[in-house]
Amino acid sequence: MWTILIKDLSEFVGKEVTLKGWLYNERSSGKVKFLILRDGTGLLQCVYFKGNVSEEVFELASRLGQESSIEVTGKVKVEPRAPGGYELDATGLKVISESHDYPITPKEHGVEFLMDHRHLWLRSSKQVAILRIRHRIVKAIRDYFDGKGFTLMDPPIITPAACEGTSTLFETDYFDLGKAYLTQSGQLYAEAGAMALGKVYTFGPTFRAEKSKTRRHLTEFWMVEPEVAFAELNDDMDLAEDFLEYIVQTVLKDKAEELKVLERDTTKLQNVKKPLPRISYDEAVEILKKNGIEFEWGNDLGGTDETVVSNQFDKPVMVHRYPAEVKAFYMKRDPNNPKLALAVDVLAPEGYGEIIGGSQREDDFDLLLSRIKEHNLPQEAFEWYLDLRRYGSVPHSGFGLGLERTVAWICGLDHVRETIPFARMIYRNTP
Ligand code: 4AD
Ligand code: MG
Repeated sequence: MWTILIKDLSEFVGKEVTLKGWLYNERSSGKVKFLILRDGTGLLQCVYFKGNVSEEVFELASRLGQESSIEVTGKVKVEPRAPGGYELDATGLKVISESHDYPITPKEHGVEFLMDHRHLWLRSSKQVAILRIRHRIVKAIRDYFDGKGFTLMDPPIITPAACEGTSTLFETDYFDLGKAYLTQSGQLYAEAGAMALGKVYTFGPTFRAEKSKTRRHLTEFWMVEPEVAFAELNDDMDLAEDFLEYIVQTVLKDKAEELKVLERDTTKLQNVKKPLPRISYDEAVEILKKNGIEFEWGNDLGGTDETVVSNQFDKPVMVHRYPAEVKAFYMKRDPNNPKLALAVDVLAPEGYGEIIGGSQREDDFDLLLSRIKEHNLPQEAFEWYLDLRRYGSVPHSGFGLGLERTVAWICGLDHVRETIPFARMIYRNTP
């Protein structure tokens, strides 16, 4: 038998119920004791009147420490002033396990302290709301691609070579075969999948040994990567904007309660509808110059540059055709200007920066081989990838969306560390 959940209490008004959970908070006023129960689905105020319950129960209600696991019994009442809108006129109280000196109290704590206690911090209302939104985004991502005829394809995590540049690889010894690396991206394998199935997506953890200690960088993060055969850069951008609209609008519709817990002002999120503005890298550079930023053509956009560019728009903006020099080896060059890569980055509004990076892929065997050599990549490790250009090469494109950056943006958080249950960053690999 499932326990009755706080989220379902509307079905039990006027009835006596028993619920299980943890003591979130408590307060007293003379002959009344208020216990706030949390059960992972919501909060419920349980009211114990001294005269209505046994002395034993009242004494217990007065003694229990924060986060004690308990079972409460009582009658469900509508109470608009209580969190969640219901209240329990409580009569029974049983302890499952007492807790004392819970380290996270309702007072303010520093972020490092909370991150050290991440395994407990997850129990707070705000963290619960973030995890629920993350889950909804994951499901929206899957629903979107599944509904559009994409096949989910799981790429390997242990790989023989770099995808996004050699400077951010996590290395490991691999038996007699020498070095192996944790994947930076499933893309190269997704390309093989697209040649087999037409439209695929990968969705899983990816790793970057980033030296960057910013609010946007994790060393382990989740990425979803669609890859489509016969798609060119414009098709890729069409897909990205349709996909983003779906995700954001789905979360707004289904997770309004959680967004309220996070006090997220959703006005800017409401704007995330097709079409999204598309500007070239050259136009982005113009915007930077107009805003008094010293920026040299040819550089990649930094975090601040991205913020300045995206502040010109009330929606995410797609910046396409970056200098090939600052982009990955596999990107196709613009036939109209070989200095440019047929790349696109989607920058989120409100200072959240790049959430999507994508491109049309180099589909010509000779050009791809020369790129591999220019980038000093080991050709042998890429022979299988070159095979995709040897045997029936076609134009194809895809992109990667970073899950944690997307969660941070939608939830309005100022750091990605709260968007994943247990963040891995340059200075943290615990708990
Ligand atoms: O731009 P990136 O590096 O692109 C790729 O990996 C391509 N292979 C994707 C593709 O075309 N299939 O990464 C894609 C996205 C970024 O836009 C960002 O949202 C996220 O992944 N990302 C990170 N998120 C958190 N921490 C990091 N260190 C991240 N690096 C990239
Ligand atoms: Mg990128």
